[in-house]
Amino acid sequence: MRIGLLTGGGDCPGLNAAIRAVVKQATGEYGHTVIGFRNGWRGVVDGDVHPLGRQDIRNVLPVGGTLLGTARFHPSTEDGSMDAVLTTFEAERLDALICIGGDGTLHAASQVGEAGVPIVAIPKTIDNDVEGTDLSIGFHTAVNIATEAIDRVHTTAESHNRVMVVEVMGRHAGWIAVNAGIAGGAEVVLAPEEPFDIEQVVKFLRHRHRAHANFSIVVVAEGAVPRAGSSMSFTQQLGRFGEIVAGSVGDRVSAEIAERTGFDTRLTVLGHVQRGGEPTPTDRILGSRFGVAAVDAVGAGTTGVMTALRAERIELVPLADVAGRPKRVPDEMLRVAKALA
Ligand code: F6P
Repeated sequence: MRIGLLTGGGDCPGLNAAIRAVVKQATGEYGHTVIGFRNGWRGVVDGDVHPLGRQDIRNVLPVGGTLLGTARFHPSTEDGSMDAVLTTFEAERLDALICIGGDGTLHAASQVGEAGVPIVAIPKTIDNDVEGTDLSIGFHTAVNIATEAIDRVHTTAESHNRVMVVEVMGRHAGWIAVNAGIAGGAEVVLAPEEPFDIEQVVKFLRHRHRAHANFSIVVVAEGAVPRAGSSMSFTQQLGRFGEIVAGSVGDRVSAEIAERTGFDTRLTVLGHVQRGGEPTPTDRILGSRFGVAAVDAVGAGTTGVMTALRAERIELVPLADVAGRPKRVPDEMLRVAKALA
């Protein structure tokens, strides 16, 4: 068999572990050929191939990023690109395509699948908002990085009697904010799942500082929004793929806290630091398990599916059931973040 492989959307630690597992399982266990595409769907449209053999995956397991490159490009958004995907699939004599990506890439994968291409998807995104799987590749590493950052900000907040606002990634869901907020002992966690009232946040901080504390940590997911009708309102400007291009919520929250409380307040935006560098063992293992499972699925002729981690087991779920539905943080976790403030 000839299997195409791509990584699409934002990169994250653990992608190379998945690529390595696909290549090892496909070439070793089955004697298949793996044809990589450079820069996600762009490479499929342009026929930009990079055949992958054992020599290409040497020493990549602990390395962040993706050796194939990636791009935020969806074939359905450009005229003629869907046809180009099908043309490349035929020209390369492929039997199936394995796509490693977040929601945007999986949505495109689902559309390409409907057009007749046998597809197996692997979920990755530090945001962990892909439906149908307990974990996506990259999330565990991002939570580690964000937690370490909160720990570091903690000591300087205490030394300087400051409120520190830490903005983390998470456009549609607050998985990083809630997990790192709980792990780092944040006083306030603001996530997209629960629109916030800045006056309540300020009231809480005033009370805490009056009662006993000289510092506070506020963790804000980049997609957190003020409650409609609350005294702080602003519109985030969203780009073509839903990314925030202007109006950082962390900026606004720290400015409002400083203005309303008079507390010395600083903002730290973690940004792409959360997406870079070495994957944790958990992400290496998850990428490896997903990679092997994807090749096994192709071998068994089970396509139109996504690999998923569910209660410790790797399963296959229909791609159409999960694409385009961001997975929200459960209420129980939001309650824990609040209860421990
Ligand atoms: O991968 C998802 C994500 O990390 C979002 O949380 C963030 O908004 C976005 O990527 C930023 O991506 P980029 O700047 O690479 O387009």
